[in-house]
Amino acid sequence: MIGIFDSGVGGMTVAHAIEKLLPDYSLVYFGDIARTPYGPKSPKTIINYSIRNTEFLLDKGAELIIIACNSASSVATDTLRQRFDVPVIEVITPAANRAIATSRNGRIGIIGTRATVKSRVYHTQITEERPGFKVYQEACPLLVPLVEEGWLNKRETKMILRRYLHPLKNRQIDTLVLGCTHYPLLKKLIQSRIGKKVKLIDSSTETALYVKEYLKENPKTVSKQEQVSHRYFASDKTETAMKVAERIFSRPMEIIVA
Ligand code: DGL
Repeated sequence: MIGIFDSGVGGMTVAHAIEKLLPDYSLVYFGDIARTPYGPKSPKTIINYSIRNTEFLLDKGAELIIIACNSASSVATDTLRQRFDVPVIEVITPAANRAIATSRNGRIGIIGTRATVKSRVYHTQITEERPGFKVYQEACPLLVPLVEEGWLNKRETKMILRRYLHPLKNRQIDTLVLGCTHYPLLKKLIQSRIGKKVKLIDSSTETALYVKEYLKENPKTVSKQEQVSHRYFASDKTETAMKVAERIFSRPMEIIVA
């Protein structure tokens, strides 16, 4: 079984992509809705939450963990890999690799939470691989609460996006990484604000593709069950979170509070 966690509903964009790309695998998801957002919190707190989330998923039978949250991926990956005896896949590497392969002019923009931007993990990964590339980051702390609130097409959201993306528009980037698994829900707005010439890299779909490749190369890591199950747990359940979840999956969702 594949285990997936995020600070809230954003990681469901990864889970949804996994359901579609790997229909033969069962998955268990945990969204830490009670503690969302992670982005403004200290690395120590995010690491502690990530350990708890992983323990929960292992307890439910997960054999591989996907950290479907850029904030947690940027600060907690090493700890989880040291502490737990299962493969831990994060969302940064797949998105950074795709950005490198996509950019023609070597100018890449990153948008993410404060935790992700502060860690400079995208910057490090991209410039280690391509020392000549320029990476421009912009923290967008208001976007996760807006998505969790379901404000996906409001005038205020468009105004905030315009403000966040303005500095990147002057950098001649040709590629922009959506370095937060909540942002695919704002993809259309982001594309229209940044301009259609800029290619958007979605860390959620890239991670699902990466996991598919990983399982092709390591087929024994995750067992296939006769009866495929997709179970969704969360530390809290709110009306708005449910609406966003149902929008991601385009179906009624059952979320179990744990
Ligand atoms: N979806 C998480 C991410 O990818 C949001 C983090 C947060 O809760 O701030 O970064």
